[in-house]
Amino acid sequence: MTENEVMKTIMHRRAIRRFEEMQIAEDELGQILQAGMYAPSAGGRQGVIFAVCQDAKVNERLGKIKRANSNPHMATATSYVSKEQPSIADDPKIVNAFYDAPTVITMFALRNFLFSVDDCAVAAENMMIMADSLGIGSCYIGQGWTAFADPYGQEILKKWEIPDGYYAVMQLLLGYPRKEDKHPTAKPRKEKRILRF
Ligand SMILES: Cc1cc2nc3c(=O)[nH]c(=O)nc-3n(C[C@H](O)[C@H](O)[C@H](O)COP(=O)(O)O)c2cc1C
Repeated sequence: MTENEVMKTIMHRRAIRRFEEMQIAEDELGQILQAGMYAPSAGGRQGVIFAVCQDAKVNERLGKIKRANSNPHMATATSYVSKEQPSIADDPKIVNAFYDAPTVITMFALRNFLFSVDDCAVAAENMMIMADSLGIGSCYIGQGWTAFADPYGQEILKKWEIPDGYYAVMQLLLGYPRKEDKHPTAKPRKEKRILRF
């Protein structure tokens, strides 16, 4: 077992989709955002915008729009995302693709920039690792734009004053994991993915 604290956090982090209602502490949110702000970015351009929404009504409405716009491959007995922390692909009864997370951070980046997705993804990983180290659960949500793909979503983009030319790459969900839940275990790693020459 490694003694390295970063490695321990990497190994411990799992996608969390079942959250306590209680909001995360402001200083912890600040540390998570700082981890995102200090992530690498292509060309050092620092183009990612982090829109933090803690308004439960807005998050629920956007999460429902996203669920309505998603058509995931539903789980089977042998192929599933998570039995312990079911995703929308595992449980058709889940109507909110943000799983009622108390904090939803939408990461926006330039539409016409080759590395927008990369920039958001590396920032998100920094933030997920930081969150885990603070005892906060996180979940990466891809295809962020689908949450805004209706008139209500468009109204929110205007209200948030998202600059022209930016689009929602992804969301990062944050919240305390439900106390009654056991921390999820990682699936076994698939082999033969490391090539050595
Ligand atoms: C690019 C990307 C997109 C993802 N999109 C979603 C998503 O839309 N909904 C969701 O519940 N989880 C999403 N996840 C989380 C994955 O399902 C999760 O990371 C994976 O099942 C492995 O579990 P682990 O993170 O606990 O190791 C996404 C993860 C990545 C990297």
